[in-house]
Amino acid sequence: MSVSKVRGTENRSDIPAPSAPVRLATSIRNLTKEYVLKSETVRALRGVSFDVPEGDYVAIMGPSGSGKSTLLNLLGCLDKPTSGSLMLGDDDIASMTDDQLADIRSQRIGFVFQSYNLIQQLSVLENIQVPLYYQGRLGPKERERAVALATEVGLKDRLGHRPSQLSGGQQQRVAIARSLINDPFFVLADEATGNLDSVTTDEILAIFDRLNSEGRTIIMVTHEDDVAMRAKRIVRLKDGLLHTDEVVTEQERNEMREKQAAAVAEFLARE
Ligand SMILES: Nc1ncnc2c1ncn2[C@@H]1O[C@H](COP(=O)(O)OP(=O)(O)O)[C@@H](O)[C@H]1O
Ligand SMILES: [Mg+2]
Repeated sequence: MSVSKVRGTENRSDIPAPSAPVRLATSIRNLTKEYVLKSETVRALRGVSFDVPEGDYVAIMGPSGSGKSTLLNLLGCLDKPTSGSLMLGDDDIASMTDDQLADIRSQRIGFVFQSYNLIQQLSVLENIQVPLYYQGRLGPKERERAVALATEVGLKDRLGHRPSQLSGGQQQRVAIARSLINDPFFVLADEATGNLDSVTTDEILAIFDRLNSEGRTIIMVTHEDDVAMRAKRIVRLKDGLLHTDEVVTEQERNEMREKQAAAVAEFLARE
């Protein structure tokens, strides 16, 4: 991997040249998060800065306790930083009220969780529209958009199914479609392939590849090198600090795709 001191936008061939203004999906500066306990204060993030340009695909890695979940919670507007700034568009989440955070969270962030988090009583089509429900936006246009997203993730023939009637990979496809219904700043994926076998993991990563090539911004937390190498960039945390920020070259990504495709083919041949 080509290690660079870059924190997001410079020296990147895959994002627009400096002449075109680079739009940021998010920008983080000196972000800290402290958890105050009775006996001690845990400094989970100790001053993290980086930018995520629109269209980027970032894997966040790091050992257990390094601050990944804390960072993810801040990016997802589930919590507020102790100090520093986290810009989403023109808004700094540090200065938002809890209600504003809740609005941003439900309207502008797409979540994909390891455990899918679908509503069992609802159909595929209804699950995809859940984020709109909270905004009271459920007209024919929204339904059409949900159908289009279901089609995009290969579930056109499963619109009326319930989650229990789907495989794990299919359920994660529903979650991905749901994450996109609000046109989010970015899709936040938390160990999204953690519950899936290698064949299904490959299918989900192929969907992420396609979404990203269409311009969607993806930020995922993973502990698997093979999964992280499919992103365009790997940000590693260590002890609450940004440890490294590395670009994954297109060649490295292609090699990883081929390696995984070969492993999948071998697995299927054995079946
Ligand atoms: N709600 C919390 N209260 C107190 N300490 C916490 C809380 N959440 C996380 N921590 C601590 O903050 C540090 C970073 O945790 P976390 O962000 O979960 O790391 P990771 O996801 O990389 O394993 C750890 O030392 C953890 O024990
Ligand atoms: Mg964690």
